[in-house]
Amino acid sequence: MTSCVTSQREPKTHQGTTENIQSVFTGRCWDYDVTKYNNILPRVDAGCNELWDKFFDAFSFSSPCDVQKANYDSFYALADQNLPEDKVMFWSGVYTLSHRFAEAGHNYVTLEDTIIGYLVNSLVWCGQLTKPGVNYTACPEWSDCPLEASESFWAGASATFAKQAKGKVTLMVDGSNPDKPAYRRSSFFGKHELPSMSDAVNEVHVLVTHTLDKPKIEFCGSGSLVDLEEDVTKRGFSYECEDDPVAVMHLLCANEPSSRECLMAL
Ligand code: APR
Repeated sequence: MTSCVTSQREPKTHQGTTENIQSVFTGRCWDYDVTKYNNILPRVDAGCNELWDKFFDAFSFSSPCDVQKANYDSFYALADQNLPEDKVMFWSGVYTLSHRFAEAGHNYVTLEDTIIGYLVNSLVWCGQLTKPGVNYTACPEWSDCPLEASESFWAGASATFAKQAKGKVTLMVDGSNPDKPAYRRSSFFGKHELPSMSDAVNEVHVLVTHTLDKPKIEFCGSGSLVDLEEDVTKRGFSYECEDDPVAVMHLLCANEPSSRECLMAL
């Protein structure tokens, strides 16, 4: 599952704003309903240029390290979508696997399937005080400053997404990473999503996945998953946890049929 820990969201080292970002953003926007999400998520009333203007206003002509989450509020409001009950999926450390499993909203809806996440997923952006208001040469890393333009965006987008979740929500985590516990209170899930869920949520269903052919480090009921159960139940939600669900194993084994776990299952 090595391929499952990378994220499209990761900004490249000090890369500047994505070239032609406005065209990429509006092109994705025009395509959004037509291609993938028709019948899965509601259309937003706002036009694509209007969405771009709100997004652009949030960070342009500002220092890249001085963008509050609230700067994006009018963009989030304009792009608001009702999320289907029991279908929301959160993830930590398993970008690729969680999105393969979610199947672009057919099984689950992730933040990156909503129009808010979809329009800018994998893009880099930051502002500058002088014209053209956007820095195409270099943007800071998330860790370089606390109010970095895209980190603030994703923090606010995560909270907005979690606020909209209803019913049973699903969280996929990685039980095989020696460097990162499956659940961290400092992760986006721990910091912005779990605390933002409303009482429209009744259950958090955790899927703990393990990389094929690698040591399995954490399981339901062990390590950081004990903290997760505590944090979830403290918020009044039911907690359910599953290690290596069969449907996830099928997906992994389709890619790597000769791994130890897949041969054992035959
Ligand atoms: N610097 C750079 N990139 C970061 C940083 C950081 N400090 N923190 C997070 N990221 C980016 C990385 O690209 C990383 O792969 O966010 C990605 C997700 O981080 P994870 O540790 O995998 O998980 P988590 O922090 O919980 O974020 C994922 O947040 O946006 C939501 O709905 C989404 O549930 C999901 C969760």
